Amino acid sequence: MYTGNALVPGIKAVPRDPGCVRRMLIGYDDFMGPLLEIRDLRVRFGATEAVRGASLKIEEGEVLGLVGESGSGKSATALAILGLLASTARIEGQILWSGENQAVDLVRLPPGALRQIRGRAIAMIFQEPMTALNPVMSIGRQVAECAAAHATRLPAKEARRRAIAALEAVAIPDAARRYGDYPHQFSGGQRQRILIAMALINRPRLLIADEPTTALDVTVQAQILKLLADLQREHGLAMLFISHDLAVVGQVAGRVAVMRAGQIVETGATHDVLAHPQHTYTRSLLAAVPTMKTDREKPLAVL
Ligand SMILES: Nc1ncnc2c1ncn2[C@@H]1O[C@H](COP(=O)(O)OP(=O)(O)OP(=O)(O)O)[C@@H](O)[C@H]1O
Ligand SMILES: [Mg+2]
Repeated sequence: MYTGNALVPGIKAVPRDPGCVRRMLIGYDDFMGPLLEIRDLRVRFGATEAVRGASLKIEEGEVLGLVGESGSGKSATALAILGLLASTARIEGQILWSGENQAVDLVRLPPGALRQIRGRAIAMIFQEPMTALNPVMSIGRQVAECAAAHATRLPAKEARRRAIAALEAVAIPDAARRYGDYPHQFSGGQRQRILIAMALINRPRLLIADEPTTALDVTVQAQILKLLADLQREHGLAMLFISHDLAVVGQVAGRVAVMRAGQIVETGATHDVLAHPQHTYTRSLLAAVPTMKTDREKPLAVL
């Protein structure tokens, strides 16, 4: 019996028989590549080509910044990794993930196997903390559910203990007392911290952070960036950090990939790219960021 991949329709149907799936993926047994490697990714929504042959690599424990203007295909790339694209999307290329024993192609992985990876080995945090949280469920329960979702028969008491520890790790004050409070009772920065706790509770190997600080004011943004950088170092976590703001990316990412109109136009060590941008587009992105030296009388560069 054959079934299509519901999350990425248009992809070759894969057999349900697990032995068959293994045979299909076995070509990657000797893959000794990075933690994640995207090869020639293409994403189409009808006539719109959101990603047009993008390739990038993320090594174990490294932070890669993905930067580009609005609509350049950053979120489409991130969602493709987790199989979370809208059902209208057509996807081509390979997304090789170094699994436990062998590499798998996330594009061709059956939905059930992808669910095992999503939220456990690869976690994601989104831009808007309020819409990502369930408004009618206490934050403690939401964090505890994340822990329980990937554990077999986790006792409720243990899930609660882990949730409180995770909330404490992201500096939610009085975590045990506030366990039963609802999302609207927290500030925007605290809600983003709660989402980070949910993402990290299952100790992922890769965290995808899609504009995690864009909705926050500048002071809170700086606190969240520091928290992410501290947790990344502490856990040896790899991170794909997405932002339209090169200055923000520069604070957390060791390497940066610059995306324009669905393609990666420049990749390199962040300090090199910031100091000596090779591509005109990267230079215009840099020119659009105000610095202490910017002449405030003149308008900022328009992309
Ligand atoms: N579900 C969808 N249906 C149709 N088109 C889409 C869909 N999602 C994204 N697109 C289109 O794909 C292109 C890339 O969008 P994407 O969300 O990846 O941009 P982005 O780089 O994340 O931008 P931003 O910085 O604004 O978040 C855009 O032209 C967008 O309009
Ligand atoms: Mg986006």
